Amino acid sequence: MFTKCAVFASGGGSNFQALLDRRGAGDLHVDFALAVGNNSAAGAFERARAHGVPTLHTAPSHFEDEAAYAKSLLSALKAAGAELLILAGYMKKLPPPVVAGYRNKIINIHPGLLPAFGGKGMYGMNVHKAVLEYGAKLSGVTAHFVDDEYDHGPIILQKPVPVLDGDTEQTLAARVLKAEHEYFWQAVEAVASGRVRVDGRVVSLRL
Ligand code: GAR
Repeated sequence: MFTKCAVFASGGGSNFQALLDRRGAGDLHVDFALAVGNNSAAGAFERARAHGVPTLHTAPSHFEDEAAYAKSLLSALKAAGAELLILAGYMKKLPPPVVAGYRNKIINIHPGLLPAFGGKGMYGMNVHKAVLEYGAKLSGVTAHFVDDEYDHGPIILQKPVPVLDGDTEQTLAARVLKAEHEYFWQAVEAVASGRVRVDGRVVSLRL
């Protein structure tokens, strides 16, 4: 059981908002102890403040080296009592000591069907652009645990989203984002309530 979460978000934070809404509706049984972001103007911070969630603006560039950044981030997470880390639209790579400290306790949402269209540089609109350029007929949503490689950790859940004739990056992004809002909380709830078992790369869950 993990009830205290830290949410990481870089942008508008609509995925964070969907989690806040699910919590408000009584579907998601977690507490948001901290909202972490690398962009002080992120809409996600506004959403956090509106819900009384403490915020932390931090980025590797604020520190002398990555080790100092990792140390500071880990101690902030510890001080907040964070048991689970939720990357809800977070565009930075977490430093290895944080990943090691939260093995199988960091959940990321990716706007595509991994392992396709993932890896370094494949985030946000870049994913939808690549899907359209490739001519794929199916995209989707992947919620997965985070390991040391980009978009690589064990997959918790995936949902397909069709690519339609005439789609632009924007129309595809909007359709995928809707699915993210519908499904991401289910992965978070399953992990938070201890309903997942991880065996190597394979995750079994009872929704
Ligand atoms: C979402 O589509 C999310 O899947 C993606 O960024 C968007 C954030 O939207 N995340 C990544 O690409 C992470 N690699 P939001 O700020 O409205 O939640």
